[in-house]
Amino acid sequence: MDQAGTLRKMTKTMRDDIGIPSKGKAGNSTARGIAVASGKGGVGKTNIVANVAYSLIKLGKRVLIFDADVGLGNIHILLGLMPKYTLQNVLDGNKEMGDILLEGPGGIKILPASSGNKKFSELSIEEKLLLRAELEFLENRFDYILFDIGAGISSNVMYFCTGAHEIVIISTPEPTSFADAYAIMKVLSRDYMRSSFKLVVNSVKNKAEGVDIFNRLNKVADRFQLNISLNYLGHILSDDSVTKSVREQKLFLEKYPNAPASVCVRSIAREIINTNIEQGLEWENILK
Ligand SMILES: Nc1ncnc2c1ncn2[C@@H]1O[C@H](COP(=O)(O)OP(=O)(O)OP(=O)(O)O)[C@@H](O)[C@H]1O
Ligand SMILES: [Mg+2]
Repeated sequence: MDQAGTLRKMTKTMRDDIGIPSKGKAGNSTARGIAVASGKGGVGKTNIVANVAYSLIKLGKRVLIFDADVGLGNIHILLGLMPKYTLQNVLDGNKEMGDILLEGPGGIKILPASSGNKKFSELSIEEKLLLRAELEFLENRFDYILFDIGAGISSNVMYFCTGAHEIVIISTPEPTSFADAYAIMKVLSRDYMRSSFKLVVNSVKNKAEGVDIFNRLNKVADRFQLNISLNYLGHILSDDSVTKSVREQKLFLEKYPNAPASVCVRSIAREIINTNIEQGLEWENILK
């Protein structure tokens, strides 16, 4: 048996030993996994993940943030936290995920990733299996797991997107961001059987600009016969409170609760709660 096969067998044995049923379908797991991705970098993913997580906590949900930007993780920096251990320790085999959990504002739990570690810029299949297996032991402690996905369309990005129940794509009105949002949906639908996406348009000047980007993305998908369903989750206004709070390493929702961006994030969190899971977990497909 290959290494991955051995690990898979070990995981199953571990689960059987402590009486945890094996999962694989969305309906069976407690936590709802949401991957937040964009293709293009610097469009607001990490800020959106952190602030939506805080908003979900305020709405009574148990939330875990998984820093899936493995090797270039920075969610802990945004939150002003100094992790003693990171996912690197889990991948090195000297810690379990439960040991590296950090607590952030409002009680958000965070799985921090290391920063500046080229070794994990492309996870091996064994490392992917290990992360998946470790995460399963945490899943029933949370209502939502938000994956802060790195930029690009690397194998790591595909892995974490494919492993989540839902994929939220972030775009800004800039043409480069629009093009990359389209590109990542194209790759995920064509090569990874993911056809359902939700869209958040960030840094808009008004509501209409967000709706316009949503309509245009749908039109382009139709024109090029991309067989996807794209739903609109909402927009976030361009707001100086965001940049100010990043510099202060605070959440804008906490520091400036009435700022325009905070109002938008709360509306998106409510929308997330009000919409249903649309797709099952596909980890098995990507690990084959
Ligand atoms: N709504 C907004 N209004 C104003 N500035 C914003 C807004 N959203 C994001 N920004 C700015 O964009 C910067 C990048 O945001 P962030 O780090 O969340 O992006 P990212 O997509 O996670 O980047 P990366 O791809 O590098 O991980 C922030 O530091 C902030 O200055
Ligand atoms: Mg980021």
